[in-house]
Amino acid sequence: MTTPRIVILGPQGAGKGTQAGFLSRRFRIPHISAGDLLRAEARRGSPLGQRIARIIDRGRLVPDELMSSVVRARLRRRDAKRGWIVDGYPRFRQQAKTFNRFARPNVVVVLTLSDQQAVRRLVGRRVCPNGHVYHIRHHPPKQKRGYCDHDGLPLHQRDDDTPVAIRRRLRWHHQQTDPLIDEYRRQNLVLEVNAHPPIKAVYRHLLEVLKNIPWLSSRLKKK
Ligand code: AP5
Ligand code: MG
Repeated sequence: MTTPRIVILGPQGAGKGTQAGFLSRRFRIPHISAGDLLRAEARRGSPLGQRIARIIDRGRLVPDELMSSVVRARLRRRDAKRGWIVDGYPRFRQQAKTFNRFARPNVVVVLTLSDQQAVRRLVGRRVCPNGHVYHIRHHPPKQKRGYCDHDGLPLHQRDDDTPVAIRRRLRWHHQQTDPLIDEYRRQNLVLEVNAHPPIKAVYRHLLEVLKNIPWLSSRLKKK
């Protein structure tokens, strides 16, 4: 049986983390977020973590080698044998080349969103320390205001959700990730989903397009 090896790409605020979380629960495969892996390392406060924090808080990209080794180590863990959904990696062609040496996606989901909407969304985003994502208006927690539904932990704003860092991240996305998406398109791996509608509508559309892939469709019907 083919295992889902999904990469999810899109501009900042497109909902990569949000939709990857849903897909991870639906397919019972781990959601591996490049950003969450880096933030976890940063929180440990090690010298490496402090270096990472200085880079990501300003909205810059961490060096390719470091990023690749972090993702590679995560993919080696047992739960990733059943498949995976990687969010935010690779982001440019050189990273994709490195990625191909240890893993190859069989689906690339691309979420599309205007820059204007991206900025609006990120200002209202709140996250828990384990990476669960909320929005003060569009996706508030259901159980207790300001606390994560999954872990009960307090929600906070990300340090890189400042206008300067958001604009820098968006600029990087257009310069570096758009050409990578074109390359994946040429390889016939891309499924594009408009990320402007509300969260649940985007998810429904995403499932519809995934159902068009025969080997994934049978997995979706089983649930
Ligand atoms: P990362 O954490 O991946 O940040 P990002 O790419 O900037 O993307 P975001 O997490 O901001 O957006 P998202 O698409 O996940 O949106 P979300 O679901 O949260 O990376 C952080 C940093 O780490 C990078 O800047 C870089 O420094 C470093 N890094 C990461 N990967 C790297 C790599 N490969 N190489 C080098 N460095 C790397 O949704 C956003 C908000 O909108 C939420 O509040 C959500 O509730 C809301 N929302 C979502 N969908 C909808 C909707 N349909 N309608 C209304 N609201 C919605
Ligand atoms: Mg994210």
